[in-house]
Amino acid sequence: MENNVIILKHPLIEHKLAHLRNRESDNKLFRETLSELSYLMVYEITRDLKLKEVPIETPLQPCICRHISEQVLVVPILRAGLGMVDGILNLIPTAKVGHIGLYRNEETLQPQEYYVKIPPDAQDMRTFLLDPMLATGGSLSYAVSLLKKRSIRNITVVSIIAAPEGLDALHKDHPDVKIYTAMLDEKLNDRGYILPGLGDCGDRIFGTV
Ligand code: PRP
Ligand code: URA
Repeated sequence: MENNVIILKHPLIEHKLAHLRNRESDNKLFRETLSELSYLMVYEITRDLKLKEVPIETPLQPCICRHISEQVLVVPILRAGLGMVDGILNLIPTAKVGHIGLYRNEETLQPQEYYVKIPPDAQDMRTFLLDPMLATGGSLSYAVSLLKKRSIRNITVVSIIAAPEGLDALHKDHPDVKIYTAMLDEKLNDRGYILPGLGDCGDRIFGTV
């Protein structure tokens, strides 16, 4: 499991997570902080992007440099994943953006699909699937299967807070998929919320509490 599950640990990430967790943070601060955290994570999650050589002329002489050679696709899971898109596009402005709309049934906690829009030529794109909350893992596992059904193979999951139960379940369902999270929390409560967590992420982004 270890190789494909990466828990990022960094003072800036922990500092910003404290703002996200704080119930006193208003929607504006919450949105801004989630975006900043996603921006900080880009450096790590893109570490293995492929490069190609390009000839460049410096003011002094020609030299061979390297550019990213892969098309990047980011796919937020609606709604909360939307809060991560801007932070990532700030550093990868040429990325394409797909969308997967899911909500958890409150009784069964099973994901319900309501919207999907993925570029038709996404098969070979380097795909980052975004959802800040990895709780039972049901939503992310469903979304990974959906992308795989469209023959998208190079998938990386990016989350902000994961529960151990959900992380295990997602890794078991999709051992080939790399999973990044900014923090591993303690557990789920009996309603499938992450503890200590940050509450309902979509509601806190969009002010729908
Ligand atoms: C939340 C969250 C994840 C999902 C995580 O979405 O954004 O998508 O729950 O839970 P899981 O790991 O148990 O599947 P929610 O269903 O609340 O929808 P919303 O983002 O539209 O509020
Ligand atoms: N979805 C959220 O937004 N928060 C949780 O703690 C679990 C699922």
